[in-house]
Amino acid sequence: MKLFTTGTLLIMSLVGMAAEMPVVTGEPFPDTDGVHVNAHGGGIMKHDGVYYWYGEHRDNGQPSSYQRGVACYTSPDLKTWTNRGIVMEVSETPGDPIEKGCIIERPKVVYNPATGKFVLWFHHEMKGVGYGSAYAGVAVADNPLGPFRLLHTGRVNPGVYPLGTAEDAKNLKWDEKMEWWTPQWRKAIEEGMFNLRDLDGGQMSRDMTVYVDDDGKAYHIYSSESNLTIQIAELDPTYTRHTGRYVRLFPGGHNEAPAIFKKDGVYWMITSGCTGWDPNAARLMRATSIMGPWEQLPNPCRGEGAEITFGGQSTYIFKDDRGFTFMADIWNPKQKSDSRHLWLPVKFGDDGVPYIEKPEK
Ligand code: GAL
Repeated sequence: MKLFTTGTLLIMSLVGMAAEMPVVTGEPFPDTDGVHVNAHGGGIMKHDGVYYWYGEHRDNGQPSSYQRGVACYTSPDLKTWTNRGIVMEVSETPGDPIEKGCIIERPKVVYNPATGKFVLWFHHEMKGVGYGSAYAGVAVADNPLGPFRLLHTGRVNPGVYPLGTAEDAKNLKWDEKMEWWTPQWRKAIEEGMFNLRDLDGGQMSRDMTVYVDDDGKAYHIYSSESNLTIQIAELDPTYTRHTGRYVRLFPGGHNEAPAIFKKDGVYWMITSGCTGWDPNAARLMRATSIMGPWEQLPNPCRGEGAEITFGGQSTYIFKDDRGFTFMADIWNPKQKSDSRHLWLPVKFGDDGVPYIEKPEK
């Protein structure tokens, strides 16, 4: 008995294809020119039916401080990626904030329907200072393929206390020479020692992401206070400035590489610990309001390699009508352009808590 016509089978296989999100497990990921995608620490934006993948462009064999800027690739289906070149280039002009030799990491682009602009946020370090600037850079473009023009760069919310700061906490004087990781030091971090240290000049911002909520409000989420504390800062309606409302998450928790998504009214965040380019165990947090309170849960990764996030470090969680994809970087510090990509589906347990497994290939 013939169960299905050829037409039915074709439709079933198309439906099957549509249901399948690409899974990438560290193998080379060639673009349409056959070259491994050189976009790291990045994220994906969908606009007018096209997927845009923005990331750090890393040069082959160049000193690690030399970067060309932010790379962009496009795809109709998340599987085939075409190199669209550098959408924000470092400058050849001495003294320019993004002068060649600066560091540009973890770029994320969001579209602002109210202004019609594409807004690029990135972790920015000025030339010659290593990771000492801890700036957030903002650039805008009229076109998702750029060119993105730098608007400003700097620390976050200078002179502004985080939400909920008690009046007496504002008068605390801290001993910056206190020995790290002692109980007194932990208490001081909790109470805002580094937050206060940076109050006048603004909060540090290193590893970061940007999130646009269902209500159209956007947030900058970043590793602050010498990478000890995550902060979430609300953005204004143009998505290019902070409003001054911000919160501190897990003081002293040493989280970086934040990636966030929302499902059924719950915000989920995955971060890494702070071990530089080396992988470590991912952390999972949840909240029902983006400004907190946030609660920490166990490592969301399961199976072999879970204790080092399968060799990767979170960068973004991409939402599609087929589900959520966890994007991570398997860094190769000796040849950063050959850092590999890890894209794994986010699954949900019966309790609704997300987890990540690396499938056998
Ligand atoms: C990692 C961070 C990367 C990069 C690196 C530099 O911890 O996640 O984005 O900044 O440190 O060592």
